[in-house]
Amino acid sequence: MARNIPVMQQLLQKKPIDTSVRQSHLSEMNRKLGFIQLTFLGIGMIIGTGIFVLTGRAAAENAGPAIALSFVVGAVVSGFSALAYSEMASIIPISGAAYSYSVSALGELFGWIVGWDLLLEYIVGSATVASGWSSYTISFFREVFGVTFTKATTQSPLFYRNDKFIVNKGSYINIPAIFITLLVTAILCRGIQESSAVNVAIVLIKLGVIILFIFGSAKYVDKSNLKPFVPKSKDGQFGVVGIIKGAQKVFFSYIGFDAVSAAAQEAKNPQRDLPISIMASLLICTALYIGTSIVLCGIAPYKELYVDAPISYALSKHPNTKYLQVLVNLGAVAGLSSVILVNLLSQPRLFMSMANDGLLPEIFARLHPRFKTPFYPTIICGVCVSIMAGFLPVDLLGDMTSVGTLFAFLSVNISVIVLRHTDPHRHRNFKVPLGPYIIPVLGSIICIALIVVSGTSTIIRLVVWMAIGFCIYFLFGIKHSRIRSFIEENEMILSSPEAQIHNQEKTFSA
Ligand code: ALA
Repeated sequence: MARNIPVMQQLLQKKPIDTSVRQSHLSEMNRKLGFIQLTFLGIGMIIGTGIFVLTGRAAAENAGPAIALSFVVGAVVSGFSALAYSEMASIIPISGAAYSYSVSALGELFGWIVGWDLLLEYIVGSATVASGWSSYTISFFREVFGVTFTKATTQSPLFYRNDKFIVNKGSYINIPAIFITLLVTAILCRGIQESSAVNVAIVLIKLGVIILFIFGSAKYVDKSNLKPFVPKSKDGQFGVVGIIKGAQKVFFSYIGFDAVSAAAQEAKNPQRDLPISIMASLLICTALYIGTSIVLCGIAPYKELYVDAPISYALSKHPNTKYLQVLVNLGAVAGLSSVILVNLLSQPRLFMSMANDGLLPEIFARLHPRFKTPFYPTIICGVCVSIMAGFLPVDLLGDMTSVGTLFAFLSVNISVIVLRHTDPHRHRNFKVPLGPYIIPVLGSIICIALIVVSGTSTIIRLVVWMAIGFCIYFLFGIKHSRIRSFIEENEMILSSPEAQIHNQEKTFSA
C-alpha cells in the first residue's frame, strides 16, 4: 500500500534496482531458457508481416532495388535501441521489459505510462496479427488444397478504413483468428518450456522457408531488374530520400527484439544471455531481410511489387517455382503464428511485473501452482485478443502498434542515459558503446522522428490511449503502489551490519 507522501514525490519515486534483482532471484518461474531459445523468441517476434508484405511495397513505392539499403538503415536505427535494451537487460533481470527499466530509471508514473503503452504493442499487435494470420491461412488452404471458407465466419463484422467505420456486409465473426489466439493461449498456459519448444519449431520453419527462397530463387535473378540499383529520385521518392522513406516503412519489420527481455525471469542466465540474444536476433533478421529484398527485386521488376503478397507474386513469374510459392505461404503462416505466440507471452509477463509492483490488481501476478506460468493474465490476454481479433475493427489500432513500440524504445534509450548518471558504478555485463550519450541520444531522436511522421490521427489516438491510462493509474495504481515499501525495505537492507561490511570489503578490494 502507498504511504502518505506528497503526490509529486510518489510519481517520481523509483523502484530500487536491487529489489528487482532480489525479485528475480526469488522468482518461482521455471528458468528453462538458454541463449538459443531466447534468440529464437526474438526472431519469432521480429520476422512477421514486415518481410512478407512491406518489402515489396517499399520497393515499389519508395526505394526500388535499394530497398536492401533501406533495410540496412532500418537495422542501424533499430540497433541503437537494441543496444539500449541490451544494457538495461544486463542490469535489471526481471520480466516487464521497458516497463521494468523505466520504473527504476525514470520513476513510478513514467513506468506506468510505458507499461500501459506497451499494451499497444503486445495486445493490439497480437489482435492485428491474428486477423492477418486468418487471411493468410485461408489463402493457403485455397491455393494448396482448393478449400474455400465462407466470408461469414472468417472476417470481422466491422472494418476501419480512412478514418471511417465500415460494416463488412455478410461477415459476423473471424473464427480462424479466434482459433489461433486460443490455441496459442493454451500452449502458453502449459509452460515456458513447451511454449519455447513450439516457438523454436515454428521459427525453424520460417527461417527454412526464407533461406530456401533466397537460395532457391537466386538462379532466376535477372540483373537488369537490379539496374539502376538506386533509381533516380522522382516526386520525392527513390534516390537517397526514397531509401530513407523505405527505411521508415520497413522499420516495422524489426520490431520485436524487445520481447526477448520479457522472458528475463525464465532465462537461465538473464544478465549474460539477454543482451547477446537481443543483438543476435536482430543481426540474423537483418541478414535475411537484405538477402530476401535483393532476390525479390532481382526476380521481378520492383515497380510491380505493390501487392499483398509480393514474394508469391514475384515467384509466380517463374513457372518452375510452384513449390516455393506454397512454401512461402506456409512460411508466412508460421511467421505470423510465432509473432502471436511471443506477443501473448510478453504481455502477461508485463502485467505480472506491474502487479508485483502494486500498479495492477494482485491476480495479474499469480503464477499457476504447477506450470509456474502467469496463468490468469495469460488467459485474460488470450480472451481479450480473441474478442478483438474475432469481432472488432483491429485495423483501427494497427498503426498504433508501431508508435507504441517507438515510445517504449524512447523510454529505454532515456533510461540508459539517466542510470549512467544516477547509478554509474553498478555492474553492467553489457554497455552501450561510445559512452552514455551518442547512441542513446541518436536512438531517442530517431524514435521521436518516427513517432512524429506517423500521422496526426495516430498520434491523437495514442494521446487518448494515454489519457485512459492516466485515469486508471490515478484511480488504482497510485493507491496500491508498493514502490515506496520497496524503497524503505531496500534502505533497511543497505543499512544492515552485513551490508556495511560487504560495502567496506568492496571498497578495500577496489
Ligand atoms: N516485426 C514484426 C513483423 O514484421 C512485428 O510483423
